[in-house]
Amino acid sequence: GQKQQQVLIELHEKAADLYHHVLMNTESGAKALAYLKKRGLTEDLIKEFQIGFAPAERILLQKVFEQEQVSAAFLADSGLMTERESQYLDRFYQRIMFPIKNAQGRVIAFSGRLLEMENIDSKKMPKYLNSPETPIFNKRQVLFNFDKAKGIARKEQELILFEGFMDVIAAYRAGIKHGVASMGTSLTNEQIKMFQRTTPKVVICYDGDNAGVEATSRAVELLSKQTNLELGIVSLPQGLDPDDYIQANSEADFRELVTHHQETEFSFKMTFYKRGKNLTNEQERIAYIQKMVDELVKIPSVIEREVYISQLSQDFGLSTDAIMAEIRERQKETN
Ligand code: CTP
Ligand code: MN
Ligand code: MN
Ligand code: MN
Ligand code: MN
Repeated sequence: GQKQQQVLIELHEKAADLYHHVLMNTESGAKALAYLKKRGLTEDLIKEFQIGFAPAERILLQKVFEQEQVSAAFLADSGLMTERESQYLDRFYQRIMFPIKNAQGRVIAFSGRLLEMENIDSKKMPKYLNSPETPIFNKRQVLFNFDKAKGIARKEQELILFEGFMDVIAAYRAGIKHGVASMGTSLTNEQIKMFQRTTPKVVICYDGDNAGVEATSRAVELLSKQTNLELGIVSLPQGLDPDDYIQANSEADFRELVTHHQETEFSFKMTFYKRGKNLTNEQERIAYIQKMVDELVKIPSVIEREVYISQLSQDFGLSTDAIMAEIRERQKETN
């Protein structure tokens, strides 16, 4: 009930304070702090996001919660501990801790990034470990940084969608403060509703690797069904995620990219469907053009459609009449 949720949130906020204290002020957090600074985070930024560190020993929360006589039932439900032989050990250890907050800014879960070390075999451990589902955490309903981003997104009339925590934080450092992360999973209906309540436009800015481009295509399919959401897509150079891009270039370059180099849905698809095809081959070229015409038919704006008709006609040496005739054929079929 209400009371249980309140206690669980308090446990999470206590845990966030502890992890943050360990990172900022103790010897056992020193390596993690150095790692974060090497990745370009300042102490201000670490405080802003309340980033922390969970030490290897697995007893940080255990000890404090024992002192405070937190009941076993709460420990079990919190997702912060794992039970082993009727003892509760910290679930998160040897990890940089990102608090995950609800829309009101209350801590309801964590994600921990493994701090790689020579003495542990990190290959067997996942890079990120998330809180399990609990009475206060339903992953489907959460977007990382939504609490901070939503107000700015309302003003900017746009929300930026990233894959990861470090991307949101690097973008924030670069002055793009209306970014959220879906945390690696595909978008849910609940998250799409959160967009719709906040902004008329979503800009997808996923990683520039294969997985990121595939995820972009899936997100485009989901979001384009929402007629009240405008879409923008920012494509990153092969192999770079937004955080990498800022490190490799500059914060100003990233702002320029996100502000002035968004693509439309159709433009993204023109590139996406070329992947793995040999367009000098006639069959593949014809199939590609037909696929693009399928997509053109879906564009409601006559002007936008015209822009792409002329582009396709230039790219493939076709007459615009032929493309328009094909569009009319498709429209007949669907009516
Ligand atoms: N993720 C996850 N579990 C994993 C890997 C990834 O939950 N085992 C989620 C995390 O939210 C992560 C996001 O997916 O932030 C994107 O994954 P990835 O691109 O692999 O990580 P980065 O955010 O780039 O992290 P880093 O730069 O620290 O490597
Ligand atoms: Mn990725
Ligand atoms: Mn990434
Ligand atoms: Mn990264
Ligand atoms: Mn420009």
